[in-house]
Amino acid sequence: MSKEFKRTLVTTALPYANGPVHIGHLAGVYVPADIYTRFLRLRGEDVVMIGGSDEHGVPITIKARKEGVTPQDIVDRYHGIIKDSMAGLGISFDIYSRTTSKMHSATASEFFRRLYDKGEFVEKTSMQLYDEEAGQFLADRYVTGECPHCHADGAYGDQCEKCGTSLNATDLINPHSAITGNVPVMRETRHWYLPLDRWQNFLEKWILEDHKEWKSNVYGQCKSWLDLGLQPRAVSRDLDWGVPVPVEGADGKVLYVWFDAPIGYISNTKEFLPDSWEKYWKDPETRVINFIGKDNIVFHCIVFPAMLKAYGDNFQLPDNVPANEFLNLEGDKISTSRNWAVWLHEYLVDFPGKQDTLRYVLTANAPETKDNDFTWRDFQARNNSELVAILGNFVNRAMVLTHKYFEGKVPVADGIAETDSNALAEVAAAGRALTTALEGFHFREALKEAMNMARTGNRYLQETEPWKIAKSGDMERVGVILNTALQICASIAVAFEPFLPFMSGKLCKMLGMGDLCWDMVGKTDNVAAGTQLGEPELLFEKIEDEAIQAQIDKLNAAKEANKINSWKAAPQAPDVDFDTFMKADLRVGTVLECERVPKADKLLRFLIDDGLEKRTIVSGIAAHYAPETLVGKQVVFIANLPPRKLRGIVSQGMILSAENADGSLTLLTPMAQATPGAQVK
Ligand code: MF3
Ligand code: ZN
Repeated sequence: MSKEFKRTLVTTALPYANGPVHIGHLAGVYVPADIYTRFLRLRGEDVVMIGGSDEHGVPITIKARKEGVTPQDIVDRYHGIIKDSMAGLGISFDIYSRTTSKMHSATASEFFRRLYDKGEFVEKTSMQLYDEEAGQFLADRYVTGECPHCHADGAYGDQCEKCGTSLNATDLINPHSAITGNVPVMRETRHWYLPLDRWQNFLEKWILEDHKEWKSNVYGQCKSWLDLGLQPRAVSRDLDWGVPVPVEGADGKVLYVWFDAPIGYISNTKEFLPDSWEKYWKDPETRVINFIGKDNIVFHCIVFPAMLKAYGDNFQLPDNVPANEFLNLEGDKISTSRNWAVWLHEYLVDFPGKQDTLRYVLTANAPETKDNDFTWRDFQARNNSELVAILGNFVNRAMVLTHKYFEGKVPVADGIAETDSNALAEVAAAGRALTTALEGFHFREALKEAMNMARTGNRYLQETEPWKIAKSGDMERVGVILNTALQICASIAVAFEPFLPFMSGKLCKMLGMGDLCWDMVGKTDNVAAGTQLGEPELLFEKIEDEAIQAQIDKLNAAKEANKINSWKAAPQAPDVDFDTFMKADLRVGTVLECERVPKADKLLRFLIDDGLEKRTIVSGIAAHYAPETLVGKQVVFIANLPPRKLRGIVSQGMILSAENADGSLTLLTPMAQATPGAQVK
């Protein structure tokens, strides 16, 4: 921190209310923001954490159209799910509001109007894509086409998800309407643009010179935008869902979602602190921190700061924007539309009481410097071999031994030896490293330091072996050891509060601790001798293979459903001339025998009554049909293929089946009994 600040405003990217939140949102934004905010609160700092749903924009109208409901229905549904599930995970927003609130439309409207009145916009008429059938301009996600940069198909009008480039709808090659699939026409329309080029010099100095300490992914993205030269950006859209453009003659036009959403941070602060919100935004002694994912960097580091500067009034720009990279799931990109995600609201139902496990795993694997992968096996391993075996185990041993030897009363520590003070010093050192890591937004490293306290505790008990000393009767020494162990437990209760607040709460109760503050980390007198401890409760439970398998099955089912949903019939094969086709001798046969081919798990051997002399055919459908169910059935086969040897069996023909969307095979069979050997014409 280069400068002294009096207070901190933590903002968290407002998630689109077009779906629930998943582990990618959590790892990227909400868990780190919550850790940071809880840490500042424990330090007694003045901090507020602002959140809310982003309820405008095309992702929401598209979803509404798909379901045949109104956009308001969609945002009401998902805002509720998001808000409740975040609370369920212990994400401690001071306010979680929404951009369809009255406060927000008034605030965003006034913001636009002020820029308009100050001449901070340029007005431009241009040709935009228009869907004549839908009677609508096509902006952003309403158009898809080929990316002009990487040439991937399916790029959106505002961004190519393949290469990450942000686009204008008119840049797309071969554009199609996402509403009707039609090829759009060009039509003239008028919009307001924020001339970012006017802010180029200011932003270059502010970011490239004054904020060299920003994370390299953030700094690098800003630099490449600035190096390209900033362009004016449209801040209005022809849509009927959003904050209306507050200018005469702007009917049917709304604020672009990326104009109104970040103003939501201000609106929500106002809603939370109607009388004192201004000091959190306009006092230079306030430090603003924006927690976001990497796809939001340009909006938070370039566009919104330009908007705030254009507004004036001393609005403070972010002091830091600790953006994370992306979290993948089992090796694949997380996707709401493909249902490839772990949804928070479902997790809370499937793993009741295990909020901290998810918080732990997402922090330990946080995509801080590069994309990272979440796997259910890793989730299980970290729970069982770290939370249960290290952290839970240490606390449990200290508690159980104190109950066993001292009836649960914290013993006196008279005569601290070097082993004891060394262990305490190690914990204090971990605490200092933890603090530094948190100040620098290095949450993974911070969590490691916190875990080191539990590791130290385990090692300490292993080395001092109080259970052996108890046998020899030196209870005074046992008391010193257990007092020391309980002081380490108390440090753990504080140090882990930002990361694992549910565990911390339980542990505090067991230790009889009252209000926590960060200074207690590493202290040696957090629990007074004589304090009666609560009953030892297990802090973490093992997660069994079945629970993990159920999650993996759920993902596999999603993958299957996706395959089916996105299945398209193969394009028609090139023409074949009639005479060639007629040479194929297709016939009906009756299955006389059918059995598996030994050591070939795909193959079945058929004996077919073909009306001639019977024939053997080997067919690769063993994965789809049990042989005994086929005896007596009729099949269609090609009779005049040259014989082929498969696993030592001569196959005289080929049995026909159809390949389905899910990859299964359906045997072709006549609708009614046919004469064996009958030719298919
Ligand atoms: N809804 C956006 C997204 O999910 C984030 C908006 S952040 C805000 O990518 F600053 F605009 F609010
Ligand atoms: Zn691309």
